[in-house]
Amino acid sequence: MTPRILVLNGPNLNLLGCREPTQYGQQSLADLASLCAASARDLGLELEFRQTNHEGELLDWIHAARGHCHGIVINPAAWTHTSVAIRDALVAAELPVIEVHLSNVHKREPFRHLSFVSGIAVGVICGLGSQGYVMALSYLRQALKEQAA
Ligand code: DQA
Repeated sequence: MTPRILVLNGPNLNLLGCREPTQYGQQSLADLASLCAASARDLGLELEFRQTNHEGELLDWIHAARGHCHGIVINPAAWTHTSVAIRDALVAAELPVIEVHLSNVHKREPFRHLSFVSGIAVGVICGLGSQGYVMALSYLRQALKEQAA
């Protein structure tokens, strides 16, 4: 069975490429989606890649992943630092979660140092740009393989 991974992106990430390129790079969200799709193909993963600016929509997608997906890669963007609801939804999904940030949030403003998600994630990758997503997918592939063995 091919593992199905849900890649979720939070608010303002639709503006990647034009929004603060010194923090977030030159790649657009479409570029990021293509990179993840290519990586998933190489790794033998099925991928669902999504972005929303509406917290309730993100919560609905996390709920739907329960029993449907095998892992979640999430860049909650600004909701990282504010949302207990997203943390609770991720716990309820009962899936391995990898938290990803394009920028190194620990080098930035103090309010970005707090994450409501990190405490329930398997791991956190930040500051490595779009490569962080590729690494998260690769980790999940290996972890799911070991779990199935
Ligand atoms: C971000 C970091 C967050 O602090 C910020 O609000 C974002 C993007 C990142 O990918 O570096 O929107 O999650």
